[in-house]
Amino acid sequence: MGQMWLRCFNTATRVNCKNFVRLQAAMASGQRTYLDHNATSPLRPEVAQIVMRALQLPGNASSVHAEGRAARAEIENARAKVARLVSAKAKNVVFTSGGTEAANLVLTPSFRRLGQGGAAKLLVGAVEHPCVLNGHRFPVEAVEIVPVDSRGILDLAWLKAHLEKAGDERVLLSVQLANNETGVLQPVAEAARLVHEHGGLIHTDAVQAAGKIPVDIAELGVDALTLSAHKIGGPKGIGAVILASDQFEIAERLIRGGGQEKGFRAGTENVAAIAGFGAAAELALASLEQEAGRLRDLRNEAEAQVRRIAPDALVVASAAERLPNTFAFAIPGLKAETALIAFDLARGGPVLRFGLLVRKGQAIACARRHGRGARPGRGRLASEFRVVEHTRGRDPLCGGVRKGGRHLI
Ligand SMILES: Cc1ncc(COP(=O)(O)O)c(C=O)c1O
Repeated sequence: MGQMWLRCFNTATRVNCKNFVRLQAAMASGQRTYLDHNATSPLRPEVAQIVMRALQLPGNASSVHAEGRAARAEIENARAKVARLVSAKAKNVVFTSGGTEAANLVLTPSFRRLGQGGAAKLLVGAVEHPCVLNGHRFPVEAVEIVPVDSRGILDLAWLKAHLEKAGDERVLLSVQLANNETGVLQPVAEAARLVHEHGGLIHTDAVQAAGKIPVDIAELGVDALTLSAHKIGGPKGIGAVILASDQFEIAERLIRGGGQEKGFRAGTENVAAIAGFGAAAELALASLEQEAGRLRDLRNEAEAQVRRIAPDALVVASAAERLPNTFAFAIPGLKAETALIAFDLARGGPVLRFGLLVRKGQAIACARRHGRGARPGRGRLASEFRVVEHTRGRDPLCGGVRKGGRHLI
């Protein structure tokens, strides 16, 4: 195995000498290239500093003395920054313990526009994150899955027909803005228009999209969106529900107790995590355009490398609008498990210490299950996995993909 690896490595060095020098340097330092930013992204150093500082604040944000007011100021400052990330109003941001709790909080029949009834039915996209699929608070018989096509994109014709059939029955649609495994973007604004024409409500899970592409709650036309800090270089365990305006209510709260977060979410606020979320949101917004360009270039280059290594590799939904930092690919006849082990072996000895982190995907399998006629690769595929953003230079990524890919084939 090691010899084969070395041979592959030598081939790669002939192709690109500059890569070789950089890879050697990376290997010498034992550096790994972390690609799995859609699972979680490393805490940004600037954010870590802010979190550490906020951890020292002694006060409870509900106290009126100076210490309490300092903690409150930290929270409100962060709230404004998180709101800005999605062009929302700060007063409509409700902090939660993460994207999962945020989805659980909002996806209830008691989420409603003031003066109206809540939804009798929940529609969810077929490739939603489990925090939506399993985290909503509707009875099972009131839930319907909206099919997706072979790229994992919501079937708007199905949605339209379904809404027409539903008549006066109010629905709540939950559809993600971007998929965590394929990066595919959903037609959320179009879905919002359809849902609103029929008097319904719409939530979007923007956990993967915010901070990677521009997100504007009013442009999307959604009634609520949910976010998570740890996908954008913030701390784990902090997220938010953002309501489109103060004209929305969630009557059945998830965590009841004191009046924190205007009663939407009781419990003493995690000031440090909230401050970190605010800082991460601010940084992500400031570098959004530049980062998107940089990552898109890297992603395209990595895709080209994969195609060179395995000409019949399928890059999932390559023609669809996708997050700039994500691509999912499948190699016919190659089991995902085999691929993952091979990639993981790239951590081993002196040459293999340089490694990649990849994860087996579920979105395609899910699209197959629920999609109508969805058959990426005409059913020949045995493996699906994804590669997402990395933090360092171009060469480690492409060199790594080349090495990992050659190792597999
Ligand atoms: C699309 C999507 N929604 C929601 C979540 C859940 O967020 P959290 O990890 O903050 O609970 C994730 C995390 O993987 C995600 O990818």
